[in-house]
Amino acid sequence: MNWQERDAACIWHPFTPASAAPEIAVVKAEGIWLHTEDGRKILDGTSSWWVNAHGHAHPYIAERIAQQAKTLEHIIFAGFTHPPAIELAENLLRFIDGKHSRIFYSDNGSTSVEVALKMALQFFKNQNIPKKRIIAFENAYHGDTFGAMSVGHRNAFSAAFADLLFEVEFIPAPEAGKEEASYAQLHELLKMGDVAAFIFEPLVQGAGGMRMYCANSLEKMLLLCESYGTLTIADEVFTGFYRTGTPLAVHQLATLPDIICLSKTLTGGTLPLGVTAVPEFIYEAFQSSNPHHTFFHGHSFTANPLSCTAALASLELLQQDDCIKNIRFIEQQHQVFAQSIKAHKAISAVRCLGTILAIELKTKTESGYLNPIAPQLSMYFLGRNIYLRPLGNVLYFTPPYIIKEEELRAVYTTISECLEVLVNEN
Ligand SMILES: Cc1ncc(COP(=O)(O)O)c(C=O)c1O
Repeated sequence: MNWQERDAACIWHPFTPASAAPEIAVVKAEGIWLHTEDGRKILDGTSSWWVNAHGHAHPYIAERIAQQAKTLEHIIFAGFTHPPAIELAENLLRFIDGKHSRIFYSDNGSTSVEVALKMALQFFKNQNIPKKRIIAFENAYHGDTFGAMSVGHRNAFSAAFADLLFEVEFIPAPEAGKEEASYAQLHELLKMGDVAAFIFEPLVQGAGGMRMYCANSLEKMLLLCESYGTLTIADEVFTGFYRTGTPLAVHQLATLPDIICLSKTLTGGTLPLGVTAVPEFIYEAFQSSNPHHTFFHGHSFTANPLSCTAALASLELLQQDDCIKNIRFIEQQHQVFAQSIKAHKAISAVRCLGTILAIELKTKTESGYLNPIAPQLSMYFLGRNIYLRPLGNVLYFTPPYIIKEEELRAVYTTISECLEVLVNEN
């Protein structure tokens, strides 16, 4: 049996319906290329679920992890600490650059959100302030654990658990044309006086269909929350580390949120790690002689030294001139390409921000994640050795930052050819 057949006999894959095509076995990856067991070389156009920054199997990150593995591979993080966790916290606080002073480690994007929500709720509980209400955006995606699902849009992802999710107030994101409605609804809810936190994906709702909105509106909403004593939580799990062109998406605002969640590109895409960053005033609400004020949350692999080392190495690479130059180049090329296709008959909208290019396709069926065009598009691109994973009828391209000009062009050309096929079919 080959790897694909052995996999089919024993593994249950995420987000994978029974009707899905068999998994492709990748036996090696290098740079932006995935090498499959049947000898193909596929361009990773999604940065492997938005995590990869510097290309696969990056030699510098690999070397740093190897050295760390021979020095200290893991240690319980309650009662103990270690240099990679401390150095990473110091570096991240500089990277965030502002009001944050404490880093709390967890394992992935969902846990970084769980931590943020629990911290926000307990922040008020510890001070005997009756604030429990949470506000989130419609179409949001914050992860698959129960708290993260609760603050996410109620859709196919969470339908089986709908009765068990906690109550959340959903308001429209301030997309073009909805800015005033979004602000007004936020204001009405804040006036109730019991809103603990407002959680949002800054500037881009990723899994919700790469829906984008402007920094100005978000900034006004953050200031409004501040005036009502409501904590703001930026879920930068997708948008962090230059995905939107700036170090964090919230760096496009003049004001920073209270809590920031980071994961995905944090380790350059090599090892799992989540981070929740908070300012000192939140940390202080947990520093009390009452043991019930403790933040009782942790995971076996919290602040794993190998993951922290990978993040340190990735941050170093990310801040080099070459990397920033390449991010700017991708940004500019995406814009030029978006302009060139925006009037195409197969397209209803094209959106660009930083290294994200999203193309919403016209289809006969309803827009959304379950739109049947997604698997057909995936097959089209895979047949041309490009891996893209459309969100329903939203085709997007989020390459690793090391992609070269000719590789970008090859993807744009294939997208253009695909658009022609779609028009001719309809
Ligand atoms: C904005 C956002 N938050 C949270 C998550 C969940 O992250 P993870 O899959 O690492 O749990 C995701 C994943 O796509 C995300 O896009």
